[in-house]
Amino acid sequence: MPGRFAARRREAAHRWEVQRGVVLVPSGLPVPIAGTDQAHDFHAHPEHHYLSGMASPGAVLAYDPREGWTLFAHVATEEERVWSGDSRPLEQQAAETGIERVLPTGRLSAWLEARRGEPVAVIGNHDLLQRPEGYGIERWAALEPDADEALAERLSAAVSEMRRTKDRGELALMRRAAAASRAGHMAGLRLARAGMTERALQVEIEAGFFRAGSARTAYGSIVGSGPNGAVLHFAPTSRELIGGELVLVDAGAEVDGYASDVTRTYPVDARFAGLHRDLYQLVLEVQESAIAGVSPGVEYRDLHMKASHQLADGLVQLGIMRGNPADLVERDAHALFFPHGLGHMLGLATHDAGGCLAGRTPSDRFGLKYLRADLPLAPGYVVTIEPGIYFIPALLTSPERRSIYADAVTWERVDALLALGGIRIEDDVHVTETGAEVLTSEIPKSLDAIEALRAEGLGR
Ligand code: GLY
Ligand code: MN
Repeated sequence: MPGRFAARRREAAHRWEVQRGVVLVPSGLPVPIAGTDQAHDFHAHPEHHYLSGMASPGAVLAYDPREGWTLFAHVATEEERVWSGDSRPLEQQAAETGIERVLPTGRLSAWLEARRGEPVAVIGNHDLLQRPEGYGIERWAALEPDADEALAERLSAAVSEMRRTKDRGELALMRRAAAASRAGHMAGLRLARAGMTERALQVEIEAGFFRAGSARTAYGSIVGSGPNGAVLHFAPTSRELIGGELVLVDAGAEVDGYASDVTRTYPVDARFAGLHRDLYQLVLEVQESAIAGVSPGVEYRDLHMKASHQLADGLVQLGIMRGNPADLVERDAHALFFPHGLGHMLGLATHDAGGCLAGRTPSDRFGLKYLRADLPLAPGYVVTIEPGIYFIPALLTSPERRSIYADAVTWERVDALLALGGIRIEDDVHVTETGAEVLTSEIPKSLDAIEALRAEGLGR
């Protein structure tokens, strides 16, 4: 294991080509919860985790081209040991990271003092610049750091590029995360029923993750029943599921920092009925053809555009949109019903090291501004494929949008569907040398498989 992290650090240093100055990669500080003695759930910055292999709060991985790498690790105080537990012994951290110099953060000030006046690139968690004292640096300004933001941006971009390609060990963790997600989603698919609250469903799903070896969720679970399914990041409430409605569950387990990100949408009853069925089938077809298009060299943006076109086409056929699908997509009209991107990169972050390929700029078009990756796919990348169709009152009742798209939508039809909610189907896809491997393929999504599970769960 430590060899893996050492190889990453060597590669990063090689790409960085830093001749003068130092690089600091903080993990992040605990964020206190007001009115308690506790902190929010801690998630180490992915750049720190990736390069060190450690995920503890209050640590700084430091690089000086003359002497190599040092890990400054937080050593728990007596009070912290009483209330929250001990920190890992420094020798153990040295063995696990492969970094010979693991020092308490109390030594960081002196280390920086010895490099006074040199450029400092801070990547990782930038909270070091706002709360240096949290890392044991009492007098940051007095150290006269020459914070070089342009350098930091270049170094961070180099680490992002490295992080996009997952190695065997990372893929193994992502498979474990996918398996834990499966356990949770299967529980949800079986247990959901009318009268159960969104929160109760969330609890069952997350219990499935944790029983299957996950230590935390990769992101706040999204459980939206009925109209709530149209809120893209809906936090579950005490609303009860109602027969005749759909429930959208976007929830993923995390294993050793690696995320899975899965969405399934299903009926509260045993079967998809009427328009729900047609819309589900459309989203599923779009999702499956996007997955079939995943291959090295393929532009992720092209997959998004194709999916948008297919969704617009389907919505025209269902009488919800009007016009020529290519023109509708050209005008971003499809984004009224699909206002997010096809997906994103996945790894140590749920929205992992994606962004634009160097030299490209993000688009602010209605139909493209939430496309979180604009780059050609390559072997080892893991991306989500998550098209959806939603009836979002915020967009569909906007007088401005209704005027721009007056001719593009069958508005009287849409007015009757404003409480329908949304449908999203999301899987995690590993780009292989020849095509794609769906890491979450064991989580049912065909109409038949979902209906069979629903019927079994409801005892029908
Ligand atoms: N699963 C949440 C997201 O992709 O934004
Ligand atoms: Mn996602």
